[in-house]
Amino acid sequence: MVEKMARIRTGIPEFDEMLSGGFMPSDAVMVAGSAGTGKTTLALQYIVNGITKFGENGIYLSFEQMPDQIYRDAGSFGWDLKKLENEGKFRVVLSSPNVLFAEGGENLLDEIIKEVGAKRIAIDSLSHLTMFVSEEKMRLESYRLVCFLKARGVSALYLWEAPQLMGTAISVTEVGMSFLVDCIVALRTVEIESEIRKGLVVLKMRGSDHDKRLREYEITSTGMKVFSPFDQYQGLMTGSPTRIGSERFKELFSTAAKGNKK
Ligand SMILES: Nc1ncnc2c1ncn2[C@@H]1O[C@H](COP(=O)(O)OP(=O)(O)OP(=O)(O)O)[C@@H](O)[C@H]1O
Ligand SMILES: [Mg+2]
Repeated sequence: MVEKMARIRTGIPEFDEMLSGGFMPSDAVMVAGSAGTGKTTLALQYIVNGITKFGENGIYLSFEQMPDQIYRDAGSFGWDLKKLENEGKFRVVLSSPNVLFAEGGENLLDEIIKEVGAKRIAIDSLSHLTMFVSEEKMRLESYRLVCFLKARGVSALYLWEAPQLMGTAISVTEVGMSFLVDCIVALRTVEIESEIRKGLVVLKMRGSDHDKRLREYEITSTGMKVFSPFDQYQGLMTGSPTRIGSERFKELFSTAAKGNKK
């Protein structure tokens, strides 16, 4: 009998359920979404829950924000990163791409991984690097980073800011990075009846079954919360949702039935 491999849980129950229990250990996971969809929040929650709920220490590698801002943002959700850092379970690493990808840059990361005993890392964001390097170098360096972290048994979340173009399906393939990662989670906004809501979908997950549906989520004062699928709508991925016929029919039918009772 094949023994079931332990999963890397996000600690967000409905999300873990979508992932058939969690991410696969050492997998490279890409979290793609447009600005403000909650990528940083999800990444912080993944790291904090890893430490506090599952005893898996973590690193937050940022190319964009200063550590103070990261502590502050996490604090607004009630996550005390300073405390975790003082306990030796966590580290914020602020790096410039030049440093990380320079000769010996990986040794620096290697040392921190060992010091913290890290099992998880979040990289905010991989897409940021496209501003500094050519497309070819980008692929090469990303590939090196992915291999490096896998070899050390660290489960990584790579954030990717992707513009959400109106009327197009979610696509991270255009950036040519999707082949590098084992799992892709997309965060996107959807407009339903003039209201902007948020939807999360697992686009791929190598070697595992997963929820294929787009599910609603919200960023709340305690972090990300995942709700039911938007199953009464279709066309959400293409940006022009319509209610599914039968739902509309049921609605009309129940309205008509109520009308008859009068
Ligand atoms: N403490 C909080 N309580 C409730 N909602 C919050 C809180 N902090 C942030 N948010 C909401 O979450 C949204 C997403 O924040 P987050 O920084 O995680 O997104 P992001 O995808 O990383 O954005 P960016 O592309 O700018 O990096 C914010 O725009 C805000 O609406
Ligand atoms: Mg962010």
